[in-house]
Order: sequence, then structure tokens, then C-alpha cells
Amino acid sequence: MTPHNHAKEGDYAEAVLLPGDPLRAKWIAETFFENPKLVNSVRNCLGYTGTWKGKPVSVQASGMGQPSLSIYVHELINVYGAKTLIRVGTCGGLNAKVKVRDVILAQAASTDGSIVKGRFGAFNFAPIADFGLLRSAADKADAKGLKFHAGNMLSSDIFYHADGFAGYDKLPDHGVIGVEMEAAALYTLAARFGAKALTICTMTDCLITHEEISADARQTSLKDMVELALDVAVEA
Ligand code: HPA
Repeated sequence: MTPHNHAKEGDYAEAVLLPGDPLRAKWIAETFFENPKLVNSVRNCLGYTGTWKGKPVSVQASGMGQPSLSIYVHELINVYGAKTLIRVGTCGGLNAKVKVRDVILAQAASTDGSIVKGRFGAFNFAPIADFGLLRSAADKADAKGLKFHAGNMLSSDIFYHADGFAGYDKLPDHGVIGVEMEAAALYTLAARFGAKALTICTMTDCLITHEEISADARQTSLKDMVELALDVAVEA
């Protein structure tokens, strides 16, 4: 038990999917898990454990942004023994070649956030995905015929920038392909505590072309992405 989680030790599997949205955690558990069991509902930040293809797996909502995700991930690793953490979410696009519905595997995560920057003083730490999870996700996405891009993601602390897109200009120029709000903190905590992490996102809105996903396509794409993440998680 922690202030944010009333699950008992042993209630989570070693592999945990991390959507931001609590209702997406519920949907993942109820749609994909065999025998889903609710293990946490503190603050309605829902967590479930069940099995996928017979293997134990959990899902825990992370909330939005690096501070919220950091609380759940710190406790999942250090209190509940999580070893493989896969964020599943949506992201904005920062490269016209990435189309809505495409999957982005965040090979690395750049950030403007203080959680990562604050740890390293004069150094710029490079938060990276676990290579084995990344390779597995790429292989499985290929086998499923899912269009994906592996590359540098921006984990921003700011959704509504005062100066609009202008603030992001340098990042696409340096090959950053997507923007979300959590991956950099996830990778940094996993590195610090010896866990494996990956972020898999469906691109839903392109900041360059202003293309947006339709409601129908959003649901199908999320389903494909979650199945990919579950296959990677239970084999890790
Ligand atoms: N910014 C940050 N996070 C996001 C976005 C975005 O444009 N789209 C989906 N998640």
C-alpha cells in the first residue's frame, strides 16, 4: 500500500502497461485481459491485473504528464516489483512522414521537463527505451503489418504553449518525430531502478499537417497498438 495505491504486494504482474487515462486502463483490462481484477482505484487512477494469452499482466493508469507518471512508476517498480513497463498512449506528430494512425516506438525521449533535467546538473542525460523491448515491438509490428516509426519523441511538460508551435521548431529539425508528455520520465526511472521500459504511441494529431484521426480510426488503432504492447510485455 502507498498513498496513491491500495494494492497489496503481489497484486501486480511483473509486466505492466501504462495508459495515461484511467478509463483506458479499464477498457484494456475488460477488453483484452482474461480474468481482470481491479487492484487499485485510489483517485480513480485505476489498476488491474489479469492474463493475456495465459501470461500474467497488469495495467495501471499513469495520469497525464511526467510528475503523475513518476509517482505510479516509482511505486510499481520499488513497491510492487514491476520489471517491464510499457506506456501505451497517443501522441502528436512532428514529422509530415508520420501519418495519423501510424505507431511511434519512442526509441529515445527528449524533454523540456525538470524531472529529468534536474537530476543531472551539467549533464544532458539521454533517456532511451530498452533495446530488447524496442526490437521485439519492431519485429512484432512488422509481423502484424502495422506501420511504425522508431525515433526520438518529445516528452513535453506543456500541452498549451504560449507561443504555439514555434517553441518546437528546433526539434523536428533534429529528427524528433512525435510529442507526448510522459516517456522521458518513464525511461529515466526505469534506468535508475533497473527495469525495462518502452513507449508505444498512436499518432493522433499532426502538428505539421494538422491532420487528425477520426473517432472510428482511433478505436481500431488503439486496439492494434494495445495488442502489440501486450504481446511484447508478456514475452519480456
Ligand atoms: N502534445 C502533447 N501530447 C499529445 C499531443 C500533443 O500535441 N497529442 C497527443 N498527445
